[in-house]
Amino acid sequence: MRNIVVLPGDGIGPEIVAEASRVLAYVNDRYALELTMAEHAFGGAAWEAQGDPLPASTLAACREADAILLGAIGGPRFDEAPREKRPERGLLRLRAELGLFANLRPALLYPALADASSLKAERVEGLDIMILRELTGGLYFGQPRGIEIRNGERVGFNTMVYGESEIRRIAVRAFEIARQRSSDARAARLCSVDKHNVLEVSELWREVVIEVSRDYPEVELTHMYVDNAAMQLVQTPKQFDVIVTGNIFGDILSDAAAALTGSIGMLPSASLDADGRGMYEPIHGSAPDIAGQGIANPLATILSVAMMLRYTLDEAAAADAIENAVGATIADGVRCRDIGGGVDSVSTRGMGDAVMSSLQGAAR
Ligand code: IPM
Ligand code: MG
Repeated sequence: MRNIVVLPGDGIGPEIVAEASRVLAYVNDRYALELTMAEHAFGGAAWEAQGDPLPASTLAACREADAILLGAIGGPRFDEAPREKRPERGLLRLRAELGLFANLRPALLYPALADASSLKAERVEGLDIMILRELTGGLYFGQPRGIEIRNGERVGFNTMVYGESEIRRIAVRAFEIARQRSSDARAARLCSVDKHNVLEVSELWREVVIEVSRDYPEVELTHMYVDNAAMQLVQTPKQFDVIVTGNIFGDILSDAAAALTGSIGMLPSASLDADGRGMYEPIHGSAPDIAGQGIANPLATILSVAMMLRYTLDEAAAADAIENAVGATIADGVRCRDIGGGVDSVSTRGMGDAVMSSLQGAAR
């Protein structure tokens, strides 16, 4: 028995997680995976119900879990919560408490969605990038941080800090992933993104990444400043294979990469600890503007289930089946609104149905 904790969260979270849970329940049965699933309160919903975005019982369940499936959290309703009780803080605490330092954010273009990309089709055809974002350090967690009065005015401050062990472990992951992704036809390439020309923390980042690279002579390592990387991503994205970068740069670049693939509604992510246990979530947010309407795209969450099967549960056949079903559904022209569905858009449930019937059809 392996146990999966499900955190629906806020906004569209419960809607998209419902579809992903159906898919997970189906493959659990079909491939005899022996998974148990239990939902727990998290995010703004948990703050409203229990006064804490990450209740102790949820954290305890997450610690025991083999893997976590998360929908999305946050929304304007929770802006009134004290800073420490905001849903985002709950998410950051969960990442930190579980040591989920390696955040994998693939940006993969489905051929049939080339027209939904922000770029011309020929610039993105075949796009397949993996962004590896450091997730438990850097500017998001550095001390000191705060807002205080200095010389009679308010000052806000955060600290961008990385220890070499933090840099080393994310770099090792990045080189491993670059190596795994390479094939006879494709050389292993890793681009480390920093701000080495300005920041000391980036100087150390680059030094440590270069040290780690000596153990991976088969991976071609390059370095790029983050501002240039942002430009290159939206100009000639296919030059990239694996990108490794710190927390804040990865947050920004992964949204940019998402737009290239046609919709942020398509992209899953994995956040892994040192032992490969992890939390899986779509990279998009809780989309409060469309919450409750049943029109959100559940594919990023469904694809997050596939990543969970691949990276934590070691069930590649089930992962392949889900990814193939999503690919077939997209190729069939089934679209939610965000990926160019227009008047023929399907609902969240409709998209879930389409993926389920593709899965069931393939199994026959
Ligand atoms: C993300 C999100 C989060 C982040 C927010 C919700 C705290 O933007 O996962 O990219 O900044 O890490
Ligand atoms: Mg983000």
